[in-house]
Amino acid sequence: MSKESDSGRRSRMSVAGRASVSEELAELGRPTIEHGERKRTALLYVQRLTKVYELRRGFFRAPELAYALRGVSFYVRRRETLGIVGESGSGKSTLARCILRLIEPTVGRIVFDGRDVTALRSGELRALRRRMQIVFQDPYASLDPNMTVQEIVREGIDVYALAATRKEGNSMVAALLVQVGLEPTLAERYPHELSGGERQRVAIARAIALKPELLVLDEPTSALDVSVGAQILNLLQELQEKLGIALLFISHDLRTVQYFSHRMGVMYAGKLVELGPTDAVQKRRYHPYTRALFAAMTPSREAPAIRLPVLRETPAESDEHARGCVFFARCPNAEPGRCDIEEPRLSELFPASHHRVACFHPQLD
Ligand SMILES: Nc1ncnc2c1ncn2[C@@H]1O[C@H](COP(=O)(O)OP(=O)(O)OP(=O)(O)O)[C@@H](O)[C@H]1O
Ligand code: SF4
Ligand SMILES: [Mg+2]
Repeated sequence: MSKESDSGRRSRMSVAGRASVSEELAELGRPTIEHGERKRTALLYVQRLTKVYELRRGFFRAPELAYALRGVSFYVRRRETLGIVGESGSGKSTLARCILRLIEPTVGRIVFDGRDVTALRSGELRALRRRMQIVFQDPYASLDPNMTVQEIVREGIDVYALAATRKEGNSMVAALLVQVGLEPTLAERYPHELSGGERQRVAIARAIALKPELLVLDEPTSALDVSVGAQILNLLQELQEKLGIALLFISHDLRTVQYFSHRMGVMYAGKLVELGPTDAVQKRRYHPYTRALFAAMTPSREAPAIRLPVLRETPAESDEHARGCVFFARCPNAEPGRCDIEEPRLSELFPASHHRVACFHPQLD
């Protein structure tokens, strides 16, 4: 899959000629009354999350806006796994980082355990970070090469003063290493002395050391061999059951998301286009993009991959619309005059089905 996919290109557009960017942002951030009950009871509730990057292409040229996220709304319940699948550039990492407030969303709200955390300042943010942890894709980049495993896992324990004595801290680290399937003797090693799988286990040990309620996993296995990745997934599932952590599992691999998640969402060009219980999404595939993803899944277990079949040709960027459906350019069901002008909202096709789709002409066959 190329680094910048159609989805990535589609989310980029020029500011020139646009009526009003602030109007667009106001619309994306407009609160909805959907999910009222969920908002109160969910562990994490994300409402109309939008992230816009301004790209300067030269002094005399108007900046371009990259809509990395476009009004994304969903919730994660305690102890459940919500999987998000999307191709490269669809906004998955931006979503993960915005939720953790590692980058600031442009508009939208993040509610954690009933509390709006969108505008928390540093002290309160620190307390929140203990409850929400992240594991990144690349365990090489996410672990400090100058620290031993002991120091890496121990850092959070010390920052949050979770151990009364040094000895207690060391025993906590040893227990955490065992919990993630590593020998405690690895504590004195440096990351470069470990394999990719061992490194990712260290990153998981560091994350669970703080007893988080939510773990965000941004492609935690895509830098690993298939069999090592499968072992990491098993470990995560085991930890979730034992520790009762909720997981937000982000991946470009549909097969993994399907296998791993209670509910799943499909992202395209910064927008969540379908969301529901995994079985229902797999069975019904209402959104044309979801349907294309499933249709393109290779049958091989060894090399699961997403390859999109040829949909409609992507027109030149100048044809792209600031408004309308993000999938318009490639959609076989597109209705010109509507789909390129109105933006479909993510909503339930059938009341109380908890299966939502953002499409004017969902596939019902
Ligand atoms: N700092 C940035 N400045 C400008 N544009 C950015 C920045 N970070 C991300 N983007 C753009 O935002 C879009 C979403 O990027 P993001 O990294 O979230 O996608 P992704 O789904 O995680 O992709 P991948 O599967 O390749 O990791 C892309 O079009 C990307 O080019
Ligand atoms: S809203 Fe229109 S363009 Fe978008 S996916 Fe549905 S049919 Fe296709
Ligand atoms: Mg990413």
